[in-house]
Amino acid sequence: MQIVALSDEFRKETERFAAESWGGLRVAAHRELYCLRELPCYIALSDKREILGYSYYRFSTDECEIMAIESVRQNIGVGTALIKAVTELAVSENCRRLYLQTTNDNTHALRFYQRRGFTICAVRLNELEHLRKLKPAIPLTGIDGIALAHEIELEMLLAKPI
Ligand SMILES: CC(C)(COP(=O)(O)OP(=O)(O)OC[C@H]1O[C@@H](n2cnc3c(N)ncnc32)[C@H](O)[C@@H]1OP(=O)(O)O)[C@@H](O)C(=O)NCCC(=O)NCCS
Repeated sequence: MQIVALSDEFRKETERFAAESWGGLRVAAHRELYCLRELPCYIALSDKREILGYSYYRFSTDECEIMAIESVRQNIGVGTALIKAVTELAVSENCRRLYLQTTNDNTHALRFYQRRGFTICAVRLNELEHLRKLKPAIPLTGIDGIALAHEIELEMLLAKPI
């Protein structure tokens, strides 16, 4: 497997995977909509050059935020490799922290991130009510039938503030 920056060769297929998983290419965060098409992205490629996963991210001041991450084939190390690539990039860009948002139903992702060095740093109760106003396609019920209600932010501090 290799991690590479998303190029035109793989853009359409990556966007198809992302659109299927996130109900389109617009993701809601910070009470704003972000179009994944406009963001940089790393993809994981198999030795046969099949897409195994992707991670869209964005920089703001001295922070890097993962806006969407998904493994097309789970439990073979793709998510870990994508996190590592974005972390290394954020460090090289002198970011103070790497962070992301997930939702209260995504217990698998909460486990995954915390096992990889992320810490919960904010819980925004009932934030999904606000995000649904921006993106009505966000369902009321999430993974395992859990009511999709709260946004959970996790961060990894990368450098000590001066
Ligand atoms: C969360 C997510 C990105 C994790 O990606 P992943 O590719 O499955 O992650 P990895 O394969 O690196 O790690 C998952 C597990 O597989 C195990 N694993 C990795 N390589 C393995 C291998 N070769 N053989 C056996 N197990 C392996 C890891 O040890 C890990 O388990 P652990 O946390 O107990 O250590 C993925 O589950 C996903 O796409 N979820 C749906 C989308 C989503 O929820 N995204 C996050 C929204 S905020």
